[in-house]
Amino acid sequence: MLTQIKDLAEKLAPRLIEIRRHIHAHPELSGQEYQTAAYVAGVLSSCGLHVEEAVGKTGVVGELTGKGQDSRRLAIRTDMDALPINEQTNLEFASRKPGVMHACGHDVHTTLGLGTAMILSQLEGGLPGNMRFIFQPAEEIAQGASWMVQDGAMRDVSHIFGVHVFPSIPARSLGIRYGALTAAADDLEIFITGESGHGARPHQAIDAIWIASQVITTLQQALSRTQNPLHPIVLTIGQISGGRAPNIIADQVRMAGTVRSLHPKTHADLPAWIENIVAQVCQTYGAKYTMNYRHGVPSVQNDPTLNQLLEAAAKEAWGGDRVQILEESSLGAEDFSLYLQHAPGTMFRLGVGDRDRPYYPLHHPLFEVDEAAIVTGVVTLAYASWLYWQGQ
Ligand code: NI
Repeated sequence: MLTQIKDLAEKLAPRLIEIRRHIHAHPELSGQEYQTAAYVAGVLSSCGLHVEEAVGKTGVVGELTGKGQDSRRLAIRTDMDALPINEQTNLEFASRKPGVMHACGHDVHTTLGLGTAMILSQLEGGLPGNMRFIFQPAEEIAQGASWMVQDGAMRDVSHIFGVHVFPSIPARSLGIRYGALTAAADDLEIFITGESGHGARPHQAIDAIWIASQVITTLQQALSRTQNPLHPIVLTIGQISGGRAPNIIADQVRMAGTVRSLHPKTHADLPAWIENIVAQVCQTYGAKYTMNYRHGVPSVQNDPTLNQLLEAAAKEAWGGDRVQILEESSLGAEDFSLYLQHAPGTMFRLGVGDRDRPYYPLHHPLFEVDEAAIVTGVVTLAYASWLYWQGQ
């Protein structure tokens, strides 16, 4: 079966590169993936899949019905949106839309979903079970997965695979992470209200700017002294504003930030922990506060059983030296975690780096991928899916 899958992938490779370049040249922002979705639906239909459009606003779902008796349903999720970045590569298929670029490799992900569907729909004798291909919109704004789930994309799904390109792993290799792959990412907003006054008479005022600085300092110090250092947390205040003039004590400060964590219990406990510190600092100096805390996406916790299957598939297909077991999680976020609230699954990192050219990170205007990764990705996904049906 591996030979058949590899042969199909090699045969399809020029077509898959054409698809990827088409999507790359026509990027669409989160929630506006109309052309991409229509294109995806067209390719899926031509492979004989049952296609549903406008799932989760601009998402697409393709169903491949198996010929066997296995009642389980395996899903593969890819994402379709691009970023508000002005592409600076000189590729002949560079973005034709100024200010919009596939700089996170979602063009490759979409191609991997399509390529895997093409291969699995052409297998001799068909598949033993049912597959669902989920093409989600709006991953970059961490909304698309929840839209898809709300529209039933995870109904009857037993397990799910996800994939993200990774420029620091060379093309033709991939990375598998046991445990947490990405972090939970929450939004934090704090308003501090003091009392205005003359800059020369601080004792007659309540200085919201100074109190805000105490809040930030106390939060950062308390993180290092009261939280388990083996459960990482990053708290970044990325925005702060307040004050009207150099000689007027500010009565209002707004701060906003992002809070990243890996451990589910830490994630659950963080809002109360942060609020307690904010409240105590404000109370000490007589300020008032309001805090808005929004739980964003949870951490991606990969399923060990599905990981073992993926590792076995990848090692058989490519050899052990092309399969890295990743030692570290990332504190980036990925809304794939929302699917994992409905079924166990795993997301792996597909190498797209090229040792011969300068390497640019994800979300960079010069980001490029080595397209050899596409065959690696589709063969790995298709063969791991095949092995899934061989197990019980
Ligand atoms: Ni991405």
